Amino acid sequence: MSRRFVPLERPLTGTVRVPGDKSISHRAVLFAAMSEGCSRLTGVLDSADVRSTITAVSSLGAEVESVGRVASGLELAVTGWGARGPRPGTTPIDCGNSGTTCRLLLGVLAGWPVVATLDGDASLRRRPMRRVTEPLQSMGAHVTTTDGRLPVTITGGPLQAIRFDSPVASAQVKTAILLAGIRATGETVVTEPALSRDHSELLLPAFGVRVSCDYSEISCTLSGPSSMRATDINVPGDPSSAAFLVAAAALAPGSEIVLPEVTLNPTRLGFVRVLQRMGADVDVERERAIGAEPVGEITALFRLGLAATTVSAQEVPSLIDEVPILAVVACAAHGTTRFEGVGELRVKESDRLAAIADGLVTLGAVVRTGEDWLEVDGPARLHGGTLDSRGDHRLAMAWAVASLMAAGSVTVEGWDAVDVSYPRFAEDLASLSESTGR
Ligand code: S3P
Repeated sequence: MSRRFVPLERPLTGTVRVPGDKSISHRAVLFAAMSEGCSRLTGVLDSADVRSTITAVSSLGAEVESVGRVASGLELAVTGWGARGPRPGTTPIDCGNSGTTCRLLLGVLAGWPVVATLDGDASLRRRPMRRVTEPLQSMGAHVTTTDGRLPVTITGGPLQAIRFDSPVASAQVKTAILLAGIRATGETVVTEPALSRDHSELLLPAFGVRVSCDYSEISCTLSGPSSMRATDINVPGDPSSAAFLVAAAALAPGSEIVLPEVTLNPTRLGFVRVLQRMGADVDVERERAIGAEPVGEITALFRLGLAATTVSAQEVPSLIDEVPILAVVACAAHGTTRFEGVGELRVKESDRLAAIADGLVTLGAVVRTGEDWLEVDGPARLHGGTLDSRGDHRLAMAWAVASLMAAGSVTVEGWDAVDVSYPRFAEDLASLSESTGR
């Protein structure tokens, strides 16, 4: 399905409640499925990726009941398998497009005596799995892969705790090893080269698992084996979804928008810090905590005269999913914006470095890429055109926002990819351009 975006006639104004956070939704469903008892989860993102996790845990024996709906998502009652453990599935578990479902599930299954095969769509089948399967094997799980990729068959069993110094700053890798560590004997320690999102560390204690984190050493430790018990979780809004609306407001003259109830977890707000550095009028205001997550409002106003910046490799984990939209914003900034240490983007839902460069060049921008860097020259005079999402939700939304700066309409082919994280993005964007204020 394709969707055409025409230049805006009005500024973006008003308030939008962005959908529930994708990373926290996956974790809430998975952790509830692992626990003893019934957890009530509110505001769970209703999207294809989270549905993959719900279907997967259901096929492994958790009971997931939809009990209602709030503005930001689903209300679920999840009865976990607890001490009984997951039941073996008869067919492969389809993780769809979701790397988080697949990698976290491998960590969940590693400690149980079941055999399970995990598979996914064409995009997920291209993504590297050894980063998770190798440490799980060294803990004692048996894993066979197809050249380090899906389909993967895992046979879990008794595990020994390990210290794992992850070569990549990846919350999926960190979480998979910690989840296996819950079933392992001894102290599991994971270190990473830079801090990735810490939602698992913040959420596990609510399910009865103690995790100690040393943020200066970038390490976290848990002792196993330990049991998990049900709890109630409220999922805040997703800053990665908010980022597209924030960028749109920063680019469309006269805009002023408010996005309430978003997680303001610093491991996710790198894009706000970068936009502020570029001179954008973006602010966050912490209002309260939901569980251990800081939550509040993001406001964004249009401001003329953005300046280019350099995004360092150390900052990348805190904005890993926001590079496509920041590259779009960079087209409006004066000077060359450079992203360093972004090689991980080549193994996301698509090769995002290549896709960003191809897409922006199609619209008339000047972009250069290397193996792990990206440069965008600005200000660029973008024209309309037709761009492909390459089946990647974050590219589809980035192209929709690029249309706000373009002289003609932008058609996004493969628009339905947005179902992965933000199914009603186009409607929310339209509601802000129709709105007459707060
Ligand atoms: C995620 C971690 C990140 C991110 C992905 C969600 C998570 O991936 O890109 O969208 O929920 O843990 P990596 O851990 O591979 O960097």
